[in-house]
Amino acid sequence: MKRKILVVDDDAAIVEVLEMRLTAMGFDVTATPDPQAAVTAVDAHRFDLALIDLRMEPTDGIALMEAVHTRQPRLPVLIMTAHGTIETAVDAVQRGAFDYLTKPFLRDELRAKIARALASRRWARDRERLLTVGQTLASSGIMARVLDAVAQGAVETTEADRCIVFQQEHGKLVPMASAGTPPPSWPALESAALAAMTNGLPVTFPGSEAGSIVAAPLVVQKGPTGALVIETARGIEPNDDDLELLALFSSQAASAVRTTHELERLRSGALAALGRMATEVAHELKNPLAGLRLYARHLEQRLGKSGDPEGAGLAQKITSTVDHLAAVVQEITAFGRPPELHRVPTALHGLLDECVAFAQAKCETPDIEVFRSYDDACPDALLDTRELRKALLNLVINGLEALREGGRLTISTIYTADTRTVTMVIEDTGHGMSEETLSRIFDLFFTTKPQGTGLGMALARSVINLHGGELTIHSALGKGTRVTIRLPLEPIPEGRARA
Ligand SMILES: Nc1ncnc2c1ncn2[C@@H]1O[C@H](COP(=O)(O)OP(=O)(O)OP(=O)(O)O)[C@@H](O)[C@H]1O
Ligand SMILES: [Mg+2]
Repeated sequence: MKRKILVVDDDAAIVEVLEMRLTAMGFDVTATPDPQAAVTAVDAHRFDLALIDLRMEPTDGIALMEAVHTRQPRLPVLIMTAHGTIETAVDAVQRGAFDYLTKPFLRDELRAKIARALASRRWARDRERLLTVGQTLASSGIMARVLDAVAQGAVETTEADRCIVFQQEHGKLVPMASAGTPPPSWPALESAALAAMTNGLPVTFPGSEAGSIVAAPLVVQKGPTGALVIETARGIEPNDDDLELLALFSSQAASAVRTTHELERLRSGALAALGRMATEVAHELKNPLAGLRLYARHLEQRLGKSGDPEGAGLAQKITSTVDHLAAVVQEITAFGRPPELHRVPTALHGLLDECVAFAQAKCETPDIEVFRSYDDACPDALLDTRELRKALLNLVINGLEALREGGRLTISTIYTADTRTVTMVIEDTGHGMSEETLSRIFDLFFTTKPQGTGLGMALARSVINLHGGELTIHSALGKGTRVTIRLPLEPIPEGRARA
């Protein structure tokens, strides 16, 4: 496709000459002596470059350039000027022109400057906008959202085809967020990310066939923990300015990630204290509750014997309510003391099936579909079956409880032989969660259900963590929830555990 160039000069002779020369150079030229007509043309088409005369009546070239930039902020503009007005031309560059051309045009200079402007088409000129994006990022507490916003922001401000945010986890690069079109190939992006992390500075890999790749390290706390990588379309070459811009962006991302870490740390500290208090209170309640149950049973029997069925019925209600309370107290006390794991060889698929059957019997939402996609290569794992059953059961019940008629629960496993880990995904098409719910889901006693205790998720995560695994949640309001559990098949030897 031909590149589109806009030419504006109030000198009709120059318009004519440039139109001829540029057309001969293979461009699609729109040339006009009228600034107003130029603005209309910019409204109607996307140009690749504009050549604008500095001195024009009634609108001067700089005002026209600014009007053009409000419509196409990244359009490179070459300001044309006669010899006497170089200073003004320099001013034009400071106000956003890519470069200036002096009249009369020297053929080589014209060609070279046009080529340069087209090749290093600037991705973004507005740093203010970047800073605003950064501040918005820092105000959100959820890491996944923060990184999504970073990726989206990077694509929008740089006009790159795609952006991937990588984080290093357990020595491996994991794509945490992305925006733009899916990458045709991952290895090039990953090696760019690694190079940026090793150098501690942004790096560029100029494109040959494909576009260029630029990676900037994400420096959180002690050193780089990931990288922000963008890939451009063919023919768009990043320059030093762009590198600086990307570094700025990744530092915004890093500070948002840092804030999120910090918030998580504070929250889990507060939670641990709350958990200790809850366990102590529960412990204090245990004995009086046992006493209360005994008295209620006694009363029930006496009223039954003395021929007062109504009274006996009431006493029976007291007993069952006390039983419920005792069960809650039991759960809280168990929660306060994480169990010693009793690992035995466990068939995960059998365990999952068992949980699904039990959960389906418990929540009777009609007309739901349960899909299973198990990886047959997955061997037995050394796990505490009892604890894991509790965790998985809660996740499956949560999924089913979120579903309405016609909803679907999908359970899948994938075995990764080289790391000896299994990834289980429990996904529902239910009501999903708001940001507020998502940010509190692991808080003890946080529940949105009338009968819920709000212990399930906290328990599930603690069981998975005790096994050296990891539980993550993605949820979209009105769309559904996906819980991903990564579990090592056997205990990770001391010293090799978590980087
Ligand atoms: N799959 C899901 N879809 C939508 N919301 C969910 C899902 N899983 C959890 N939640 C939300 O997280 C909250 C906490 O879940 P959690 O399992 O900890 O407690 P609960 O299910 O409310 O009670 P219980 O302790 O009985 O499990 C739920 O009340 C619900 O609002
Ligand atoms: Mg639950």
